[in-house]
Amino acid sequence: MVKVGQNILGISPYKPGKPISEVERELGIKSAIKMASNENPTGISPKVREALIDALSDLNLYPDGNAFYLKQAIVDYHKKLGENVDFNEVFVGNGSNEVIDIAIRTLVKGDEEVVLSKLGFIAYELILNAADIKMHLIPQTSDFTVDIDGIIAAVNEKTKMICLINPNNPTGTYYTREKFEKLLKAVPQDVILIVDEAYFDFADAPDYPNGLDYRSMHPNMLVCRTLSKAFGLSGIRLGYAIGPKEIVDYMNRVREPFNTNSLAQVAGIAALQDAGYLENAIKVNREGREYLYREFDRLGVRYLPTQGNFILIKIGEDENSGFECYDYLLHKGIIVRMVKNYGLPNWIRISIGLMNQNELFIKYFEEFLKNRK
Ligand SMILES: Cc1ncc(COP(=O)(O)O)c(C=O)c1O
Repeated sequence: MVKVGQNILGISPYKPGKPISEVERELGIKSAIKMASNENPTGISPKVREALIDALSDLNLYPDGNAFYLKQAIVDYHKKLGENVDFNEVFVGNGSNEVIDIAIRTLVKGDEEVVLSKLGFIAYELILNAADIKMHLIPQTSDFTVDIDGIIAAVNEKTKMICLINPNNPTGTYYTREKFEKLLKAVPQDVILIVDEAYFDFADAPDYPNGLDYRSMHPNMLVCRTLSKAFGLSGIRLGYAIGPKEIVDYMNRVREPFNTNSLAQVAGIAALQDAGYLENAIKVNREGREYLYREFDRLGVRYLPTQGNFILIKIGEDENSGFECYDYLLHKGIIVRMVKNYGLPNWIRISIGLMNQNELFIKYFEEFLKNRK
């Protein structure tokens, strides 16, 4: 018997959205569609495809451990947006999940504590439990937004880090500029802020705060972004953080030497330079979102207005309703996400798809609602 810590024993492994191939194999379904993992439904950028094909012949060599050209492309990308980022303020990783993991493992130790919202991306809890770090999980407000006042109130002398997700997953809700500024004013400067903006590009609310605009107000801040969502590269695993050089330097000491592979680096550069792809992905998402809102209103279904590329919808009152809906749709070849593990057994989360996927989803969703009456 192998002995491991109580913290490891207490971890339930992350359950990703069911892969398409698994559903097709298990249920004998052809052309299943996945609306479960907040991926980009528009496929990969042709420019990324081209860059990847070119890069294949160098796969016998290790990648550039410093990801020089990728980091330069990130700096240039932000420069075009009028955001001043220094090369040494960029940290890249194997998905933003790894970036967050390394930030926590590098920066929080012993009995130092982390404050975060309870209803947020579940990976945080896994990372913190694996690192055996004490966390304060602050319940969301009654309208399912991150409770900024609750987070401020939970900060104590042991707080080393606060993790914020905006827009939040799985709710799609966001905290406003005003709330963020309130937090920045209230929190001691030496507390490290992780601002996870995985869904940044989809957010279009006028009072949505861009974390990068606030770096001077709180220097100990890491703004995390990912290429997995709007840039359409979930499978290649690439994310990054922008933060103070000192923190980036410490994180670079902890990461493994080649934590972004050469294909990810090349794909990332091409994706960041393909403005047309990004623009289209955002448009497809916005149109899909408006369509789904209209349909949910027609069907009288409660949903949370979203700033991301997914929508949380309430299925019924009874505990099993989320599963029933998930299972019904699964047998029609549509994979959505149960959110029971977030304490919401009667809700499901769907990722916004291409219009024909959204329509198909609505067709079977309506059928499900009728069948259960
Ligand atoms: C809020 C949030 N942060 C981070 C991630 C991790 O993304 P990735 O590791 O693909 O960059 C996700 C993925 O779904 C997410 O929802």
